[in-house]
Amino acid sequence: MCELYCKQDTLALRGKHIGPSCKVFFAADPIKILRAQGQYMFDEKGGRYLDCINNVAHVGHCHPEVVKAAAKQMEILNTNSRFLHDNIVEYAKRLTATLPQTLSVCYFTNSGSEANDLALRLARQFRGHQDVITLDHAYHGHLSSLIEISPYKFQKGKDDKKEFVHVAPSPDTYRGKYREDHKDAATAYADEVKKIIEEAHSNGRKIAAFIAESMQSCGGQIIPPAGYFQKVAEHVRRAGGVFIADEVQVGFGRVGKHFWSFQMHGEDFVPDIVTMGKPMGNGHPMSCVVTTREIAEAFSSSGMEYFNTYGGNPVSCAVGLAVLDVIEKENLQGNAIRVGNYLTKLLDEQKAKHPMIGDIRGVGLFIGIDLVKDHEKRTPATAEAQHIIYKMKEKGVLLSADGPHRNVLKIKPPMCFTEEDAKFMVDHLDGVLTALEVTETKSDHVISKNTVCSTKVPKEVHVELPNHSAMESRENHSKKRNGVCSDEHTRLSKRLKT
Ligand SMILES: Cc1ncc(COP(=O)(O)O)c(C=O)c1O
Repeated sequence: MCELYCKQDTLALRGKHIGPSCKVFFAADPIKILRAQGQYMFDEKGGRYLDCINNVAHVGHCHPEVVKAAAKQMEILNTNSRFLHDNIVEYAKRLTATLPQTLSVCYFTNSGSEANDLALRLARQFRGHQDVITLDHAYHGHLSSLIEISPYKFQKGKDDKKEFVHVAPSPDTYRGKYREDHKDAATAYADEVKKIIEEAHSNGRKIAAFIAESMQSCGGQIIPPAGYFQKVAEHVRRAGGVFIADEVQVGFGRVGKHFWSFQMHGEDFVPDIVTMGKPMGNGHPMSCVVTTREIAEAFSSSGMEYFNTYGGNPVSCAVGLAVLDVIEKENLQGNAIRVGNYLTKLLDEQKAKHPMIGDIRGVGLFIGIDLVKDHEKRTPATAEAQHIIYKMKEKGVLLSADGPHRNVLKIKPPMCFTEEDAKFMVDHLDGVLTALEVTETKSDHVISKNTVCSTKVPKEVHVELPNHSAMESRENHSKKRNGVCSDEHTRLSKRLKT
């Protein structure tokens, strides 16, 4: 599907020649990365990029401890998991020690998609029900079973929503149905799930599971209001379903104070199934589903064994153990709190300065910058977001824009990100936003490579930009929200226990 083209004297994957099925970052001017270390990536010309988006290289690109552990185990043994091996047992013990006690059975898989697919199987087998409630804009993986429950995908394609899939509103208190000024957004959003269950029941359908990321990532860096998950879990369990927390993007200490993002919601919230992936192997493909003994027993009682050739192999488990060691040894959770707080403080200063920044939200090293054309209406600044990420790339900073309107700058760097990195990124963002505002003030409303941006930019960036004269009258909704949320860094409609 992907074609290799000759570019100068090197081979490069040229985005414009690749079908829409295979999308590279910065498709209009892709980067060829040859090596990476820590939070930095280096291109074919030796150019350095600060990686602000790579939550796969969780403990840092090519971390020597992780590389060493993989190489050492590769020299001794790698085979499928039908033999006894200490690595898998030790890893399962270490992993479950990070989770509430009831989550005690691990199934090892190789990708986030495999983990979520298995989670659905477990839920359906346990309850004998079929239907799944998912959040709007959610993405849970690329397998057929997951495209079906990923509005982020199926709403873009020709696929219609399947009758056994129910889409609940994303608990987004900035752009969603219930916002920061709602007196109880958590209950209001949870009641939407309750309504869905009632409707499904009245149509003779039965709920097997509710699935959600503990914080929505592709969905626009959304942090659900405190209390939402508890209420949803209550409704779903009463209906005979289970709660699946997808931690594929946001697990392994990214939020700082907790190892798992769902733990921000308090000790009284424990999912029935947790799925994990990306950061787990620091780039090595490994993933896992952790569930209760009761659910696991129901699954095995079906008589259908679960076998996965590569899942839990000795090398993957050695890698997984090394990742856990590094998180601990280097106090990366502490770093996520410290650097996350600092970065948010810097971004807040930018928000006061730049009308285009509508909202800053995040926890630890998971932060979103919601760009708007108009503060009051919160009109998404989609083209501007694309322009900004290309300009930031020119400055050596890798960011991406996502969310339903692709106007949210995503920040989820390797966990070794430093305060100096944060300052470097924000200084450049300041410069790019200032230049963009100056251009607009000069009534040059068209972003093009001849005016603002000399980088090749995708077609969608070449659009009319409105004047931001509404600046003075802009209403600072987020401040109101942040007034409620006095916690230094956690940007929620109600404070979570971070
Ligand atoms: C929240 C979430 N779940 C699952 C997946 C699927 O993971 P993978 O690409 O490893 O199959 C992704 C991938 O982006 C994801 O973001």
